[in-house]
Amino acid sequence: MTISIRRPDDMHIHLREGKPLASYAADTTQWFARGLIMPNTTSPITTPEAVSQYRAYILKAVPAFTPLMTFKITRDVKPELVSALKKAGAVAGKYYPKGATTNSGDGGEDVGDFYPLFQEMEREGLVLSIHCEDPTAPVLEREVAFLCQVERIVHRFPRLKLVIEHVSSKETVSFLKGMPETVGATITVHHLLLTLDDLLGSGINPHLFCKPIVKTKADREALRAAVFSGDRRFFFGSDSAPHPRRMKECENGAGGIYSSPVAIPLLAELFVENGAEALLNDFTGRFGAEFYGLPLNEGTLTLTEDPWIVESEYHGVVPLWAGRSVRFRRMLT
Ligand code: NCD
Ligand code: ZN
Repeated sequence: MTISIRRPDDMHIHLREGKPLASYAADTTQWFARGLIMPNTTSPITTPEAVSQYRAYILKAVPAFTPLMTFKITRDVKPELVSALKKAGAVAGKYYPKGATTNSGDGGEDVGDFYPLFQEMEREGLVLSIHCEDPTAPVLEREVAFLCQVERIVHRFPRLKLVIEHVSSKETVSFLKGMPETVGATITVHHLLLTLDDLLGSGINPHLFCKPIVKTKADREALRAAVFSGDRRFFFGSDSAPHPRRMKECENGAGGIYSSPVAIPLLAELFVENGAEALLNDFTGRFGAEFYGLPLNEGTLTLTEDPWIVESEYHGVVPLWAGRSVRFRRMLT
């Protein structure tokens, strides 16, 4: 069996910075033509200069890849900067609630503090990308607890395009169904495949720990139903977030799942098993681009059925599905 899809987009990816970036980026470009690059690097991407420097750094490592840049929304990002951020290549600004995830100590405490910035983003046609979790709520309820903040923004800025990133719960799926067309959502492969039992059911697996945490079977079913309904507002964003093994296998281990090397073949397998292979192309190569108003990628990625075992480590990072079998591989053309 072979499956051919338009070269896909990863609408949420962490490439980090410095030396490891080249390795992570190379794993991504095996599969993806473009990626929306998250700005929560150790030195945050908050200025037009940082956006263009980071973009140039990525392009140097992977010239054939198209990085879609973002900036991080902090108090330092003044509304007057928005047009320069856009000129520097940013297509979205990312809002992190303070303390919600990796490198979010400089995140927002109240969405209301950023209304002047959101207004400028709305005017300039930039997307507001949201890490939708209230870190003060109980861990399984954090996503749902933040939805009221999203609702405030949607009502206040009816023309602002907004993405709820890495949706993980059934409540958020129903919330999204009631939202206008300006509100989209990314879904990861790990939230479509895993539940809390994979993370905690037979010994802790820190490599499956991420924000937002994978949840129950009912949540996973709701995410699958959303994707298999072909609803264009749900599109693929891997949230592939590499952390070196020692940062995961320790006390207070970091959140983040490294899925770039396996995301597309695992999605293909899931879609095929659910008789939904015809929908894979739109989920990975159309809906995200259309939401962002981007042209669709040229070229095709062909997968062929030829099982392989995922390596236990990639550049010191333990990937999703390490040591397990994957049904499809990329056909080299
Ligand atoms: C991400 C990271 O490590 O940068 N971690 C994660 O658990 N998903 C940040 C994020 O997207 O929350
Ligand atoms: Zn992320």
